[in-house]
Amino acid sequence: MIEVSNLSVTFGQAQAVRDASLTIPPGARIGIVGESGSGKSMLGLALMGMAPDAAQVTGSLIVDGAEMSGASERDWRRLRARHIAMIFQEPMAALNPLVRVGDTVAEPLRIHEGLSRDAALDRALALFKEVGLPNPEARLRQFPHEISGGQRQRVLIALALACNPGLLIADEPTTALDANVALRVTELLTDLSVRRQMSLLFISHDLAAVARATTEIVVMYGGTVVERGPTDQVLNAPRHPYTKGLLAARPRPEGLRQGGVRRRLPTIPGTVPPLEKLPPGCRFAGRCPVELPQCAATRPPVVDNAVCHLLAEGGAA
Ligand SMILES: Nc1ncnc2c1ncn2[C@@H]1O[C@H](COP(=O)(O)OP(=O)(O)OP(=O)(O)O)[C@@H](O)[C@H]1O
Ligand SMILES: [Mg+2]
Repeated sequence: MIEVSNLSVTFGQAQAVRDASLTIPPGARIGIVGESGSGKSMLGLALMGMAPDAAQVTGSLIVDGAEMSGASERDWRRLRARHIAMIFQEPMAALNPLVRVGDTVAEPLRIHEGLSRDAALDRALALFKEVGLPNPEARLRQFPHEISGGQRQRVLIALALACNPGLLIADEPTTALDANVALRVTELLTDLSVRRQMSLLFISHDLAAVARATTEIVVMYGGTVVERGPTDQVLNAPRHPYTKGLLAARPRPEGLRQGGVRRRLPTIPGTVPPLEKLPPGCRFAGRCPVELPQCAATRPPVVDNAVCHLLAEGGAA
């Protein structure tokens, strides 16, 4: 069980994450969505104790009863070895081109569990089978450039599973992949979470993938959580104006062409302003289609899992 309370990640005046709170029960599958720059990766990194050195991280992170705020680098390393693993968007960048992929997965098992090379490679083989790599024996001896992008992502998933984490943070795990491969990787992550009772934090721009992989969604904007709830509910009956805008901006193949004319995709008007220019109240004020006098200056309250002044006033956002 992981409890995040009021977690903030600040660079000088700029708050990349502001007071994020999140409970991750064992086996939960939670999606984090939001435009570029909304703080999704920074939140994931902070949960691993891997926020950049320039960042000030405050708030509480409790992992299986242990408070991590103020923990030493040694404690964080132990957390990453035993409890929380993360996979990153670009599989090639995360693999050493000079190391055979079998050895890459075997290495943490030798370091953290003191296994011999042969025993560690046996475990790597079992992991390669578990993540559905074809010809797993032959794969062990291959270098990253010899396998496809989807297979590299499976190797990284095997690496993340090596020490049996309770939580896997997958940061845009499918963005660099073709649609078909992305679909299969999404299914794999979902299956692994169910089979292993491993929690999954699925960070993605791809709402279709999030819909498939998760049971709960957290929507972020400007470093804040603006809405959360069961996946079905958030996708089918969004409450926050930002979530509504994000869903309306979703590309739908059938929406692209109408009467032979290519239509422009709907987008949320405006762009995310620089962090230090975000309003102190609701971060979405200024871009929001509906605004009350208090929106920009006063932090909005939580109303049925959405954080919005208008909903508090009883208005339909
Ligand atoms: N070293 C840094 N110094 C200052 N600001 C930073 C630093 N690293 C990241 N940021 C800022 O933190 C904010 C959140 O970034 P983050 O990478 O978490 O966004 P994201 O939601 O993951 O976006 P994307 O969808 O593009 O991956 C951004 O505004 C970014 O500019
Ligand atoms: Mg990111």
